Amino acid sequence: MGFNLIGSSIFAMIFIIGVTEATNYTVGDSFGWSVPSSKSFYTDWASTKKFFVGDNLIFNWNGNHSIKITMKTIDYESCNSSWFDALTYLVTKNGTAMSIHTIDAPIGYRYFYCIVGNHCELGQKFSINVQSHSGSSPAPAPAPSFGILSAFLSSLAVYFFTLTR
Ligand SMILES: *[C@@H]1O[C@H](CO)[C@@H](O)[C@H](O)[C@H]1NC(C)=O
Ligand SMILES: *[C@@H]1O[C@H](CO)[C@@H](O)[C@H](O)[C@H]1NC(C)=O
Ligand SMILES: *[C@@H]1O[C@H](CO)[C@@H](O)[C@H](O)[C@H]1NC(C)=O
Ligand SMILES: *[C@@H]1O[C@H](CO)[C@@H](O)[C@H](O)[C@H]1NC(C)=O
Repeated sequence: MGFNLIGSSIFAMIFIIGVTEATNYTVGDSFGWSVPSSKSFYTDWASTKKFFVGDNLIFNWNGNHSIKITMKTIDYESCNSSWFDALTYLVTKNGTAMSIHTIDAPIGYRYFYCIVGNHCELGQKFSINVQSHSGSSPAPAPAPSFGILSAFLSSLAVYFFTLTR
């Protein structure tokens, strides 16, 4: 009976840590979605973030751009401009536009690049490793959960205290 309570408390804690808000990421931050001055610009941008199913990628652009989304590494590396094999895509738009892409399952590598002209070759591309919230590297618990977490920990401590008396 004691173990059941401990077990369910631990389970509840894992559950609380696992549930997090979807995050909105503005691709390229204030630079938006365009041809960067450095080829590693978007790679650098993406490398500082963890992406989970349900998060949103917000693309802001001004000019003639598109977004091809694929899971094919070879197409990403070669900047293959065919729409045919795209997992999904956001069509070419010329002018000021905002597109929101919600990251969906499955987990794993997802590639984003612009297929207009040689934009991809010039560095308008990035990859992300989509993770599941219940995976091996959960997101940090949001601030409000710490309260609930400490409540669980204290009740667990109180329970142990009661047990050992
Ligand atoms: C993310 O952006 C969408 C669309 O603009 C908005 O509805 C939602 O509230 C935003 N979520 C967060 C966590 O900011
Ligand atoms: C680009 O992708 C398409 C569709 O998958 C494929 O038919 C074509 O051979 C690819 N082109 C190159 C150069 O790899
Ligand atoms: C595309 O955008 C450029 C720059 O905003 C503009 O000069 C041009 O007229 C646009 N072309 C079309 C076909 O809308
Ligand atoms: C925008 O890009 C598309 C695809 O590369 C191309 O067909 C179209 O002519 C371009 N439009 C402008 C205004 O450059």
